[in-house]
Amino acid sequence: MNAIASGRPREIPGDAGWPLIGQSLDYLFRLDRAVHERYRRYGEVSWGQAFGTRSIILLGPDANQFVLQNRGELFANAAWEHFIARFFHRGLMLLDFDEHRWHRRLMQGAFQREALAAYLERMNPRIEQTLASWPLGVRLRMFEQLKALTLDLGAEAFAGQPPGAQAQRLNRAFLATVRAATGLIRADWPLTRWRRGLLGRRVLEDFFRAELPRKRADGGGDLFARLCQARAEDGAAFSDEDIVNHMIFVLMAAHDTSTITLTNMIYWLGKCPEWQERLRAASRALGRQTLSLDDLPRLEAMTWVMKEALRLCAPVPGLPRRAVRDCEYKGFRIPAGHMVQISVWFTHTTPEWWSAPQRFDPERFAEPRAEDRRHPFLWIPFGGGAHKCLGLHFGEMEVKAILHQMLLRFRWRLPEDYLMRQDFTSLPIPRDRLPLRLERL
Ligand code: HEM
Repeated sequence: MNAIASGRPREIPGDAGWPLIGQSLDYLFRLDRAVHERYRRYGEVSWGQAFGTRSIILLGPDANQFVLQNRGELFANAAWEHFIARFFHRGLMLLDFDEHRWHRRLMQGAFQREALAAYLERMNPRIEQTLASWPLGVRLRMFEQLKALTLDLGAEAFAGQPPGAQAQRLNRAFLATVRAATGLIRADWPLTRWRRGLLGRRVLEDFFRAELPRKRADGGGDLFARLCQARAEDGAAFSDEDIVNHMIFVLMAAHDTSTITLTNMIYWLGKCPEWQERLRAASRALGRQTLSLDDLPRLEAMTWVMKEALRLCAPVPGLPRRAVRDCEYKGFRIPAGHMVQISVWFTHTTPEWWSAPQRFDPERFAEPRAEDRRHPFLWIPFGGGAHKCLGLHFGEMEVKAILHQMLLRFRWRLPEDYLMRQDFTSLPIPRDRLPLRLERL
């Protein structure tokens, strides 16, 4: 599929949308519907324009495989630079090919089993403490509560920082940097998201630079210390700048994605009490207040619920790439230099591959149905290929550790007709931040 076949290539259909802003509003306000409309109108391959760039949009699991497997190194992740380089430059996800492989290998040690167990040990007491402080019977904006918690956990496990005023400053800086990536005005003007993002990035850089000498000297079990200690086979290590860039990127990559996943799980468990009871029974059966790494695979139904939440609302809805060579996909020619996008969201909700795709049905992941196995690139919330999420086990561990403790402490219900609408202005988050009341068991 990637070689240039002889014969005339098919013309790629598409349109530029509105003057100047193109289809940006579709991405910001109705991504879920817009991508299906595009497919009905143009099919698997089309072009469009948004956020100041023209892209070729490839839809469906075959397209995901073509782009993510990236045989022949046709596509570069540097495409992300267009959206987030000013804020997350030289993060692992933005590096390519040999350089990416070198950095990824060096970083991998910080995500191995022993490291994960050490992070979990730090996180469990913090989760307990935070849940104990949540008020019962009053309306909580659950997304905000979880976001504050995962930030504290990130600060603790990654940066070795206890929560407090510093963590709150970092929280604000993160929010600003992440939101800046989808600002419509992409220039450093007063009161823009862009300006706030740049200021946020500076806060984060100053924080990590100031901490570096101490971390290099003292060591420790957090991610920051592990990156300082990491050595390649030839003894090479990350530079100070590498570490600052990786820390800012990883904290960002871990934070909203896990929060969104957990929020969606809590939403669905609030709407489907029978699933909430089923998960609670499994958590009780473990006989432990807090989870250990060995417990994770034992919570099978929780795994299905997590997979289903990630299917119905993938925290990273689409993945951009830049073609670095001319190539061809299903008879369409993709010229070098062009931006290419695949849609996780589309693939996760297409009725051609999933039964009743809008229904919450975690057992679709259980044997013998295993709908996700119908194609190796059908369920791809963590991406795939060389850039597949490095933190996916960390994410699973964190989400399960929090949910396990919540199930043992609280019960929550949401009206059946309540629909949690998504705000797509950065990653998809609930517009109303998911208001709910926790009850004592
Ligand atoms: C459930 C939550 C998460 C989701 C849905 C998610 C999703 C993703 C996706 C889709 C990518 C691939 C991007 C691409 O191919 O362009 C990615 C990459 C990455 N993620 Fe995650 N992520 C999650 C949690 C985490 C966590 C908790 C961490 C860190 C602890 C993390 C660290 C990373 C890193 C370092 C990369 C870049 C990998 C590379 O380029 O080699 N992620 N993530």
